[in-house]
Amino acid sequence: MKKPLIIAIDGPAGAGKSTTARRVAEHLGYAYIDTGAMYRAVTLKALQLHVPLEDQALGEVARNVTLELVQSPNGQRTILDGQDVTDAVRGADVTNAVSIVAACPTVRRAMVLLQRRIGNDGGVVMDGRDIGSVVFPNAHVKVFLVADVEERIRRRLAEATAQGQAASESDIRRQIVERDRLDSSREDSPLIRASGSVDIDTTSLTIDDQVQRIIDLVAAYHRTYDLISTFGSL
Ligand code: CDP
Repeated sequence: MKKPLIIAIDGPAGAGKSTTARRVAEHLGYAYIDTGAMYRAVTLKALQLHVPLEDQALGEVARNVTLELVQSPNGQRTILDGQDVTDAVRGADVTNAVSIVAACPTVRRAMVLLQRRIGNDGGVVMDGRDIGSVVFPNAHVKVFLVADVEERIRRRLAEATAQGQAASESDIRRQIVERDRLDSSREDSPLIRASGSVDIDTTSLTIDDQVQRIIDLVAAYHRTYDLISTFGSL
């Protein structure tokens, strides 16, 4: 039985994190944890309650919600206070506000605590912005997924169209550019390349390619670990 690992996948919107992370988790028989959905769920709750988008009020919301991340054959379902909000958290109103909510230190503290509790024993692929840098700086495998901004906009537009959402290219461009800016410039846990992470540029890779690269990194980790254990016990 191989040691269950913590695999951290960080990167900006549209780089391919969720599809890649889900497929890697499936392949390894691990849980896939989409931490963006957690920040989105807190944002949805804050919008429903009409609370001001500032640190104290949002922290209060984050500490009082019940969040469950349920593994299903179609990926993670996000359950907020007993309601399945998996689709609702992907709406434009939430997308437009989430980076403001996620910049609040009190919100981050509550979410990171939950993420550590979920992932601590390993056997998880967790995707987000700060997984390799803050949540699990000792993750066994860390990946930083990037892609050209034009390609990321193209992917998000195709996704929105496939889901029947009425989003224009200019809306998506504005959302992605603004979210990149807010996520990368915030003081608390900005989107950065964590030390020890491996860059994968997905601009011209297929999903299969990017999944395979991560599986190769996992295999390389196990080989090194097995070698160290063998020599360590001689
Ligand atoms: O899927 P997409 O890349 O659009 O975004 P997401 O992963 O659902 O994350 C939504 C937002 O949550 C991001 O733009 C960040 O503002 C925030 N987030 C974060 O701050 N830290 C994380 N670990 C994950 C998401």
